[in-house]
Amino acid sequence: MRAADISDDLTTVLVTEEQINAKLAELAERVETDYAGKELLLVGVLKGAVMVMADFARHLTGHIQMDWMAVSSYGAGTKSSGVVQIRKDLDVDLHGRHVLIVEDIIDSGLTLSWLLENFKSRGAESLEVLALLRKPEAAKVHVDCKYLGFDIPNEFVVGYGLDYAERYRNLRDVAVLAPHVYS
Ligand code: XMP
Ligand code: MG
Repeated sequence: MRAADISDDLTTVLVTEEQINAKLAELAERVETDYAGKELLLVGVLKGAVMVMADFARHLTGHIQMDWMAVSSYGAGTKSSGVVQIRKDLDVDLHGRHVLIVEDIIDSGLTLSWLLENFKSRGAESLEVLALLRKPEAAKVHVDCKYLGFDIPNEFVVGYGLDYAERYRNLRDVAVLAPHVYS
């Protein structure tokens, strides 16, 4: 769906499908240059990063491998709890691997800083983060994100993998959810 299909549920479209696609192509070029001659392991954080992973990975012209991690730091609400729980661990061993974590959004940063610490102890050869979105005003901890799509305002957003109560993940754009939907 496009934002226009559900305009009553949204207040502002922040990033369009076209802007996302152009940005992911640009990030993919940088990643290919930075990892020339190395095979990357992309680790997607379920479920929000599914769209970013699918589109970003297909911009890459060389071989990569993919794995997935499921963590939860949220309930059905719209505020970060800071409590991270592993729901599905990686299938592969990170030892000696070049790992790029693929995330939908950095909000408080708590999820990613926890994941980075966790991954560091597993012996990866290198470890970096790619995130489509970041809310600078919401940061509670600093997260080093080498490959960033867009900085956005501190509002609850949906679309392109991001949900509210499991809806809106299939929205092609990223938009601010209208308060009447969750209040
Ligand atoms: P933290 O606060 O740990 O949050 O950086 C990371 C995870 O929280 C989810 N998140 C959102 N989900 N709209 C969403 O649908 C948002 O505005 C939003 N902000 C954070 C997301 O799963 C992210 O990985
Ligand atoms: Mg997520």
